[in-house]
Amino acid sequence: MRADIVVGVQAGDEAKGKVTHHLCKNGSYTHVLRFNGGCNAGHTIYHEGKKFITHHIPAGVFYGIKSVIGSGCVVNVKQFFKELEELKEGGIDVEGNVFIARNAHIITDEHLEQDGRDNSIGTTKRGNGPAYRDKYNRSGLLAKDCVELKPYLLDLYEEFHENGPVRILCEGAQGFELDIDWGDYPYVTSSHCTTAGALLNAIPYSWIGNVWGVAKIYETYVGAKKFEPDDPAFPLLRKYGEEFGATTGRPRQCNWLDLDRLYKAVKINGVNRLVINKMDVMRQLDRWTLIKDGGEKHFESEQEIKSYMSKQLTDPLERRPVLLYFSDNKHSI
Ligand code: IMP
Ligand code: MG
Repeated sequence: MRADIVVGVQAGDEAKGKVTHHLCKNGSYTHVLRFNGGCNAGHTIYHEGKKFITHHIPAGVFYGIKSVIGSGCVVNVKQFFKELEELKEGGIDVEGNVFIARNAHIITDEHLEQDGRDNSIGTTKRGNGPAYRDKYNRSGLLAKDCVELKPYLLDLYEEFHENGPVRILCEGAQGFELDIDWGDYPYVTSSHCTTAGALLNAIPYSWIGNVWGVAKIYETYVGAKKFEPDDPAFPLLRKYGEEFGATTGRPRQCNWLDLDRLYKAVKINGVNRLVINKMDVMRQLDRWTLIKDGGEKHFESEQEIKSYMSKQLTDPLERRPVLLYFSDNKHSI
C-alpha cells in the first residue's frame, strides 16, 4: 500500500498536471485521486498530440488508471458529464475508470449564482466557496444523494482498504498560497490544498511515499489582491509563459519566486521531491531574480540561481532530503 502525493507549493498553476501525467506514465498506480477543490481548477494536458482541459477528472484517466474525485472535493454535476463527453470525444477510454466518492459534496445552481454575485476576492465563480460553506454548515448535498451520479459512486474505504493492494497517486488542486489555512486569507480557496488534505480521503499517513511539490521559477496569482509589482519584466513573463487562466482566461499576475515562502510550503507539506517548472520561460526573459528575506536577489546566470536554490532548499540532515528537478515548460520532468 502506497500513496504518492502531488501538491502545488505556490498559488496554483504550477503545472501539477504535467507532473501527475509524467508519474502516471511511469508509476504503476492503481488509482489517481483528486483530493480537494472543484471545477475552479483547470488542468491543461497534452496527450498524444491532443490538448485537453479538465477541471474535475484526474489525469489518470489518460492512462486507463482508475480516476477518483475524492471526499475532499465539490462536484458540479453538469461540468462532470460535460468533461466525460469531451474525453470520450477525444478518444479517451473513460468507461469504468471514472469515479466520485460517495461523500464528496455537490455544487448546486444556487452556489454558482451566489459565487457569481459576491466577488470581492476574485474567485473563479465556480461555486466553490458556497459549496464548502454548506458542507461545513451541515446543509450540503452529498454525491450519494444525487441520482445521476449513481453509476460513478465509490466508497473510498471499501476501494482503498478492502479490495486488495492499491498504489495511489493523490493529485492536489490549487496550491499552498491558496490553502484555506496556510494561504493569504481571505485571498484563498475554500479547501485544503496541502498534503494534509490528501489524508482526509481515506489515505493513512503510513502509506505516504513521495510528496512531490510543484513550483515555477517565478510566481503567478489570479484574484482580486494586487500581486504584481510594477516592472516591465512581468508583462513579458506573462506573455512568454502564456500566463492566462485555464478556467477563466484571466491574465495571471506575475512576480519573482519567493524562496522563503517556498521553503515554508516545502516544510509544511513534507515535500521530498520538488519540481521547478518553466525554466525556459525565464531563460527567454534572460533575468535571474528571486525574493529572499523580502528583497530582490539577482543572479548572473541560470546555473548560479540553481545552485543557490539547491543549497537553500535541501537540508542534508533532513530525514527525507529534498531532491530538486529544474524543468522546461516544453519537457517532461
Ligand atoms: P475559488 O477557489 O474559485 O473560490 O477562488 C479563490 C481564489 O483562488 C481566487 O483568487 C482564484 O483565482 C484562486 N484559484 C482557484 N482555483 C485556482 C486554480 O486552479 N489556479 C489558480 N488560482 C485559482
Ligand atoms: Mg490550474
